[in-house]
Amino acid sequence: MLMHILSAEQFNKTQIKKVFDRADYFKARDIDIKLRREHAELHKGRQVATLFFQPSTRTRVSFETAATKLGIGVISTENALGSSSAVKGETIEDTIKVFNGYNLDAVIMRYHEVGGAKRAAAVSQMPIINAGDGPGEHPTQSLLDSYTILDNHGRLDNLRIVFGGDLKYSRTMRSLSLLLSKYEGNHITFVSIPEFQVADELKDYLRKAGAKFHETDDMKEAFKDADIIYWTRLQKEYIDDAKLPSGGFVIDKKIMDIVPKKATIMHALPRVDEITSDVDDDPRAKYFEQAGNGLYVRMALLDLILTDKL
Ligand code: CP
Repeated sequence: MLMHILSAEQFNKTQIKKVFDRADYFKARDIDIKLRREHAELHKGRQVATLFFQPSTRTRVSFETAATKLGIGVISTENALGSSSAVKGETIEDTIKVFNGYNLDAVIMRYHEVGGAKRAAAVSQMPIINAGDGPGEHPTQSLLDSYTILDNHGRLDNLRIVFGGDLKYSRTMRSLSLLLSKYEGNHITFVSIPEFQVADELKDYLRKAGAKFHETDDMKEAFKDADIIYWTRLQKEYIDDAKLPSGGFVIDKKIMDIVPKKATIMHALPRVDEITSDVDDDPRAKYFEQAGNGLYVRMALLDLILTDKL
């Protein structure tokens, strides 16, 4: 059955567990070259394309590494906005209709506008995996984020989660909020200045899902009792220079004094200056571990989708 990955909203708990179990399997075995050779036989003869209209380090490279480790051939378009026929005015729909003729097994796609992956899926005969659509969503990031949370806290329910920074344009925050709202007893605190708080549409969704949340501009208040502190960068690519805020919410070594001992600091990366590098060695800083988990979660996702087991 043709399955697209478009939104974190679409995952149920059984599917999430399946992805995590498979990710555990690949992660444990990836240290052994003999087992890696077995993985490389699993999908021999398959091909996927990565089609990225926005820059990426982690998502594209981890997907391409995941595919390669599974024996899948990768056709890579890393700058589709600058070097594909989009420059000449070709639509995403026509691009995907052309890809349909190449008998690919999946297309992993990052688009610069909300809804790009959905538009692609509407005309696709191959699974479309949304690798980020403008300030919309990043569903596979929410899987690796929640995998990292489960690994560090042993649960995905009854957590106090703080999202901070630019929450207006953060697709990673949006997708993880949607995913965590599926689990009981979670409380979300959104910490930002009023101009960069979460969209009403997401708040409405969370209310309907029965998720508890509140908004504040007080970091100290937000951090009290936090289990997860998930920080975001200012998404300058969507903001006019004139509207860029002067200050920002920065996590530095000094602020770490008010971060609970039990808390983990997360960030989808890239970070710019919103978490200073002197925090990296703190045992609560998990953002590089989080990025590393992306490889195994994406191996699991590709494997399950391509074998119709998700
Ligand atoms: N986390 C994330 O999406 O990073 P990239 O933009 O580098 O892919």
